[in-house]
Amino acid sequence: MTRLHDPAKRGFASDNYAGVLPEVLEAIAEANLGHQGAYGTDDYTAALGERITDLFGAGARAFPVFNGTGANVVALSAVSDRWSAVVCADTGHIHVDEGGAPEKLAGLKLFVVPTTEGKLTPEAITAAVPDRAGDVHWPQPRVLSVAQSTELGTVYTPDELRALADYAHERGWLLHLDGSRLGNAAASLGTGLRAITTDVGADVVSVGGTKSGLLGAELVVVLDAATAPGIEYVRKLSMQLASKQRFLAAQFLALFDDDRYLRVAGHANAMARLLADRVGGIDGVAITQPVQANAVFATLPRDAAEALMERVPFYFWDETRSEVRWMCAWDTTEDDVRAFAALVAEELSRTAGI
Ligand SMILES: Cc1ncc(COP(=O)(O)O)c(C=O)c1O
Repeated sequence: MTRLHDPAKRGFASDNYAGVLPEVLEAIAEANLGHQGAYGTDDYTAALGERITDLFGAGARAFPVFNGTGANVVALSAVSDRWSAVVCADTGHIHVDEGGAPEKLAGLKLFVVPTTEGKLTPEAITAAVPDRAGDVHWPQPRVLSVAQSTELGTVYTPDELRALADYAHERGWLLHLDGSRLGNAAASLGTGLRAITTDVGADVVSVGGTKSGLLGAELVVVLDAATAPGIEYVRKLSMQLASKQRFLAAQFLALFDDDRYLRVAGHANAMARLLADRVGGIDGVAITQPVQANAVFATLPRDAAEALMERVPFYFWDETRSEVRWMCAWDTTEDDVRAFAALVAEELSRTAGI
């Protein structure tokens, strides 16, 4: 096959721009041998089921899906009723980056809560969502959905999550974690996955794989099967049931092997920290969010940002204030970071000199 891209091209646009972990490609090749049962009746899916109980607790059950939007739609609809609503952050991926899928496909109203640094608090929810439980005219909240790490690269502590879980449960709601970058959050906190999911009272979790080096594989993990009784049917009707599911399961087995999930995410986090340290001191660059996972948000003069984008892939997060997002991935190297920081310094001194 003819190569269509420049393999030397690297950037900071998204952890989705990175490729696939070599160990994951090997796992796919291994799973490729011979025939295996379809639709999850294979040995890799069975082994993943066991691995998930080790990682999340005895009651946990895993449902591989193709993408993060699908994981969120399946997770939210599996625990909701037809009349349910979901409470989320104003920055929430489910609100701003899923094409309306939770509303259109799952039919769920979203209550959007203003946040600071992308993080919800019980106080912010109380201020934004009136308590009209039992009022037939009012969409009834059923799920509180929280991204861990957040879309702004911040991380909830276990205590913050526990407070949100308690708040939700006191109202008869469930806690959903959008863990598209759950590994980055766990690595940042120095915990395992269980400490920020099962142990804080979460009910259902979208566990990211793609951003940590998988090839289009995500997971829905239900921590107590009783909360999502029809999830198999919901996944199928949401078009997220893979016929060759062994390839999704094998990838997660490779990712969870030998703490690889935490290691690769921890590496991406460390590269973001290094990048923030390197660019934070450059005149004209201001870091705008705490750097707690694998993202760096910064403002810089628009001309400089645009000139840099011509050379290295990344994009504006908020163009109105010339704020950019730089993401680090499992394969970002220290050399990538140093070279990019040098380019930022060069571009800023050039534009300052004009
Ligand atoms: C917080 C969050 N949730 C979910 C997703 C997954 O989305 P996708 O459907 O693009 O895989 C993303 C991807 O950017 C994300 O940042």
